[in-house]
Amino acid sequence: MVTLNARLQSLKTGREQQEALIDLFTAFADTACKVSRIISAGGELSDTIGAQNSDGDAQKALDVIADDEFLAAARASRVVATYCSEEQDRAVVIEESAPLVIAIDPLDGSSNIDVNVSIGTIISVLPNPGGDLQQSAMQTGSNQLAAAFFVYGPQTTLYLTTGNGTDLYRMDPSTGAFLLVKEGIEIPAETSEYAINGSNARQWYSPVQRYISDLLLGDEGPRERNFNTRWIGSLVADASRIFNRGGVFLYPGDCRPKYENGRLRLIYEANPVAFLVEQAGGAATDGVMRILEKPPTAIHERTALIFGSKMEVNWACSYEEETCQAFDQAGLFGRHNFSAPEQK
Ligand code: F6P
Ligand code: MN
Repeated sequence: MVTLNARLQSLKTGREQQEALIDLFTAFADTACKVSRIISAGGELSDTIGAQNSDGDAQKALDVIADDEFLAAARASRVVATYCSEEQDRAVVIEESAPLVIAIDPLDGSSNIDVNVSIGTIISVLPNPGGDLQQSAMQTGSNQLAAAFFVYGPQTTLYLTTGNGTDLYRMDPSTGAFLLVKEGIEIPAETSEYAINGSNARQWYSPVQRYISDLLLGDEGPRERNFNTRWIGSLVADASRIFNRGGVFLYPGDCRPKYENGRLRLIYEANPVAFLVEQAGGAATDGVMRILEKPPTAIHERTALIFGSKMEVNWACSYEEETCQAFDQAGLFGRHNFSAPEQK
């Protein structure tokens, strides 16, 4: 079996940033192994521990454990300049002259911790741009040198891209080594499976409502075939399914206060997932523009996110375009002020 360590050696190109990725992912793979063992051992991992993260959500014990572990690994790797985490208000500056900047969601899917459902860690790796290191992670996603997510589930897996396709690894629980399962994942272009939190339906803007209504009409509607829903509630788990058999994932903006740009974070959720998805032949957009072209304006900024099978992402976006044309106004699945469903 080919190991992650062996595969990372192909990054020995003589270019500092590329070679730094070897040290980084060697360190992060060990950390993911440790976190996965902590999760398997159980205990009081979903206890609320008082503090609130950048979202205003109460932090759970495992959020903090994972953040501490990945921050320690970033420090020990000696290649990370700044560590910008969902669990920290500000970027942590580690070593000004180091080549890499990390944006990270240390524990994605916290609401699934105590129900034994897959959760994970999402990582975006950027070059150190110099200058004000507090702003260093605010780069467009197309600058990413690598993106990855670990899934702590029935198997502990890693989806990784360094810009040359997306590969899937599985941790061998007896040794902790990550072994290559699939090189060059290809997300099927078409799908009949979609993922959205339907409980927000009454709050969606009109393009999303019309798109989902047409999917629900199945073979009696304009799509002329039946669709199936899957919603796990951990981005990493829904994304894993899409990498393996296709599908479309939507977290659009909606009318709830603070959700006008959706729920997911641009720099440490949407960007890394978008890079991995595009490298696997899929698409990732906010309804109007490619996620990887969006210039971030704040560390914890949210974005609408639609990703997965290319043809279905295009279908979803076509409803947005129709609405924009009708109203002669550029809008996103989020940020616009037309056609909001009436509030009762
Ligand atoms: O990190 C945010 C997150 O937990 C994602 O993992 C997941 O896709 C989404 O939020 C679930 O949102 P909701 O609770 O609205 O279903
Ligand atoms: Mn998350």
